[in-house]
Amino acid sequence: MCGIVGYIGTQDTKEILLRGLEKLEYRGYDSAGIAVVNGKGVRVFKEKGRIAALRDVVDMDTTGNVGIGHTRWATHGVPNRINAHPHQSHTARFTLVHNGVIENYEHLKRNLLSEHSFISDTDTEVIVQLIETFVAEGMSVEEAFRTTLKNLKGSYAIALLDQEDPDVIYVAKNKSPLLVGLGEDCNVVASDAMAMLQVTDTFVELMDEEIVVVTKDSTTIKDLDGNVITRNPFVAEIDASDIEKGTYPHYMLKEIDEQPFVIRNIIQQYQNEDGNLKLEESIRQAMRDTDRIYIVACGTSYHAGLVGKQFIEKMAGIPVEVHIASEFCYNMPLLSQKPLFIFISQSGETADSRAVLVQVKKMGYKALTLTNVPGSTLSREADYTLPLYAGPEIAVASTKAYIAQLAVLAILAVDTARAQGLSLDFDPLKELGIVANAIETLCDNKDEMKKIADEFLSTHRNAFFLGRGIDFYVCLEGALKLKEISYIQAEGFAGGELKHGPIALIEKDTPIVALSTQKELDLNIRGNVKEVVARGANPCIISMEGMENEGDRFTIPAVHEMLTPLVSVVPMQLISYYAALHRGCDVDKPRNLAKSVTVE
Ligand code: F6R
Repeated sequence: MCGIVGYIGTQDTKEILLRGLEKLEYRGYDSAGIAVVNGKGVRVFKEKGRIAALRDVVDMDTTGNVGIGHTRWATHGVPNRINAHPHQSHTARFTLVHNGVIENYEHLKRNLLSEHSFISDTDTEVIVQLIETFVAEGMSVEEAFRTTLKNLKGSYAIALLDQEDPDVIYVAKNKSPLLVGLGEDCNVVASDAMAMLQVTDTFVELMDEEIVVVTKDSTTIKDLDGNVITRNPFVAEIDASDIEKGTYPHYMLKEIDEQPFVIRNIIQQYQNEDGNLKLEESIRQAMRDTDRIYIVACGTSYHAGLVGKQFIEKMAGIPVEVHIASEFCYNMPLLSQKPLFIFISQSGETADSRAVLVQVKKMGYKALTLTNVPGSTLSREADYTLPLYAGPEIAVASTKAYIAQLAVLAILAVDTARAQGLSLDFDPLKELGIVANAIETLCDNKDEMKKIADEFLSTHRNAFFLGRGIDFYVCLEGALKLKEISYIQAEGFAGGELKHGPIALIEKDTPIVALSTQKELDLNIRGNVKEVVARGANPCIISMEGMENEGDRFTIPAVHEMLTPLVSVVPMQLISYYAALHRGCDVDKPRNLAKSVTVE
């Protein structure tokens, strides 16, 4: 959460920072700021709200060849101009932006900075005050920076400016993501390569507890003791056009429409020349060696894990537990003899998941990460990675990454089954091809989904999603999508569980979205719908072609029963999108949320 950028070079610094922050706005968007240093000193501009609001307060005549910027997702202190970054030391010599959480900031205030008063409510301000304190005690700036970092407990990605030395940006990283980019006549700093593709596609990855001294012509990586570290740069394989909205009004709609392409891309990427599945032998071995799989994830990725459990158990016959990362971390269940951990994370940066990964690695267990961002923290720190190949997902609400997670989990399950010599009546690549076509059909026919959103859902305060078996997991995802972007309170329930409590919530006209794609459960879920209709609810049944009954509102094209979640989630995504639109919500940047959740 929070995004940071830095630039040192010969171009228009403030414009590069602002454009970079616009690309990072998905990481947090409650306030933003930039600082630019020139011969006359440092100029700081901050504003509550979006980057557009910041643009309005930046003096467009500001010049300077070095600067830093920040877009915030508040953790300590309300979103306002004072708590917005950059923060400055007392004399204003040092100016700093920070992404992460300093867990011991109160301790530091009491013990090392008791003489100081603080302007903001943030944890960040202690960092910049400490640096100035150590410099006042006689340390060089770099030494003061490293000494400060050694005193911090928690997570940080930091960029620091020294007004007295406008030829340097000092940066540091621990647990929060940060890259240094190598440009022509310039160097840059960014939480995500996307922010600086405007300048370069060549980046150097930083590891935890490293600093970099960045000048226009050089980048020197060091550990916290000052030892120099060498690391080769990499070229970011992101096409700048992938991160543009094009003619779409919202990224979310663009990303929903990209889903058929994502599935086809996955088919291509996971297919050998001979048409067989392509997976690293080491991953196969790890799947063969385990007696129980523990899937760990958050939010939408957790919902993908629930479906993945069905794939792996039903096809490969390995028991699977699925856990919410933030719960697993502090309440670990009894583990089997030979556990294998699978982390599912679109961003690969989620702090809750990472906290579990760090623990299980310490315990000596193997971990596999499914992520859309190879090279992300969860990918680097796990033993194996399966990329999702979904392309950059910008809308805060995850859509195409969820579908990609399901597709890759299905491929993993089939591959594991085959490696064990199990015969399956299921060709995943062929079936995924049918799924891609089915999603395309849905995306080409959005009118009915818009109607459902406009007429059936948008004016209600709450809505329920009912399903059984694998459909229940899709209902959890459908409810999450609706609530996070339209702010309609939505809950997914297992159809049979309703009568054990939740049915008390049903009132006249309560909207119920019921999903039925599994033949053996069809009668049961329809029975549950009758129960709520008898109590006044207004149902919208989504079934699968070949299973439709009179009165069903909508059917999804027929696909293999196991893979229906990849298709049945699409109407849920679209209904949520149109409901949010109808209610005038900010679809791509829903309130209080951020795309990459790097605090626990
Ligand atoms: C909801 C959504 C979130 C994420 C969750 C985990 O639309 O996107 O629930 O799924 O924050 O993020 P990742 O997958 O990046 O670990």
